[in-house]
Amino acid sequence: MVSTQSVGVESGLKYLSESQDALQSRSPNQELLPLTASVKSRDRLEIGGCEVTALVEQFGSPLYILDEETLRAACTQYRDAFKRYYPGSSQVLYASKAWSCLAVCAIAASEGLGIDVVSAGEIHTALQAGVNPDKIYFHGNNKSPEEIQLAVESGCAIVADNWLDLETLAELGKLDVSSKTGGPIRVMVRFTPGIECHTHDYIKTGQIDSKFGFDPNSLDEVFKFISQQPSLFCVGVHAHIGSQIFELQPHDDLADIIIQALTKALSYDLPATEINIGGGLGIRYTEADDPPSIEDWARTICTAVVAACERQQLPLPKLLCEPGRSLVGTACVTAYTVGSKKVIPEIRTYLAVDGGMSDNPRPITYQSVYRVLAASKMSAALTETVTVAGKHCESGDILIKDAKLPNCESGDVLVVPATGAYNYSMASNYNRVPRPAAVLVKNGEVNTIIERETYQDLLRFDRLPVGLRVQK
Ligand SMILES: Cc1ncc(COP(=O)(O)O)c(C=O)c1O
Repeated sequence: MVSTQSVGVESGLKYLSESQDALQSRSPNQELLPLTASVKSRDRLEIGGCEVTALVEQFGSPLYILDEETLRAACTQYRDAFKRYYPGSSQVLYASKAWSCLAVCAIAASEGLGIDVVSAGEIHTALQAGVNPDKIYFHGNNKSPEEIQLAVESGCAIVADNWLDLETLAELGKLDVSSKTGGPIRVMVRFTPGIECHTHDYIKTGQIDSKFGFDPNSLDEVFKFISQQPSLFCVGVHAHIGSQIFELQPHDDLADIIIQALTKALSYDLPATEINIGGGLGIRYTEADDPPSIEDWARTICTAVVAACERQQLPLPKLLCEPGRSLVGTACVTAYTVGSKKVIPEIRTYLAVDGGMSDNPRPITYQSVYRVLAASKMSAALTETVTVAGKHCESGDILIKDAKLPNCESGDVLVVPATGAYNYSMASNYNRVPRPAAVLVKNGEVNTIIERETYQDLLRFDRLPVGLRVQK
């Protein structure tokens, strides 16, 4: 193994963790690369015991490479930390919007996690992955009646976001739709806690001016309404303050607010025994990012909830959380192949890759900053400053501005770390580019978890009316 200390000049090795041992004790969200990342021979980056360049040769590029060990380590750390620091019962849910696919849902479920879903498509994926519907919570600020019916019939809990949700649920209750699962309709009430946090405006959700959740001032009315619906079983309250958050204080503050909401629900004789404090823990995209560990996040929340319950003299509710990014974000890297190179003397060098905003829309959407490595030149000095551009017809399709790389040419494989969350799940076919494949790696073994789309796939839903057929 090559040591990060062994090289005097700065190289891609600096992104490897110093501590290759004790994989499981490192908090994945504080790392840039998956926990199994290493450079053993030929100066090549390996993930999960597989050389990235060999994976690209076998599966093509761009390629999402998901490291099973890192994903499992994050699941275990969340689950164990909540058990360790919370004396009541707890349940970690995976917010599958981060990456909804069969393999990721199945791995999360096999680690004992439930799943947070926001659409019928995500419900379907979780169910097909074998997730127990008791542990599926259905969110969304504009659920269709059909989606709500599917969730109820499948036995999922519904996170009511607004009055329309409650009215639809009350109607379904009257029709006895829930009888298919044999139980009452489980409802959690989502409200906006009025907490601001430092993150991008697009991913803040806790402030009062938000499209998500009930206004806290309407909670009396909400709980009263539910208490009058015999078919609705209000299991608790929910709040989520935002995403990619590095501060612990907003989550500490949330505990009191959510326990007060729970106390209010109980004052209407509702059988509310659960609170869900959402997700939001940030991850490291660059070395400037310094998020708290999963353990510290969990400890802060558990301690704050216990203290808030003591103040309200309330028995400890079941404590739920629903992280997405910090579970799957660091576990995946995206590999690209370099194509054209455009040198504009004294201005900029563009290195174009075979993907871009269609497989990673975060830079163009949130101005997110990433790092990039040359997969087969890990110890080469970072002598070049280049801009890694996507292949799409948008000047803004830039993956990494002013990246530090060794000299790279057409055919070199580049790796962008921390692309497990909100990448595949937000991917598109812009410019009719097929979405990449995803592989799962572990101990040198590789399995396809998502097939690469074909040109035929792109035309699957196109229809050409007879009159438009071109005569050849
Ligand atoms: C309601 C809700 N819960 C959980 C999450 C997951 O957040 P994160 O991926 O930051 O952990 C989100 C994402 O924005 C969300 O909206």
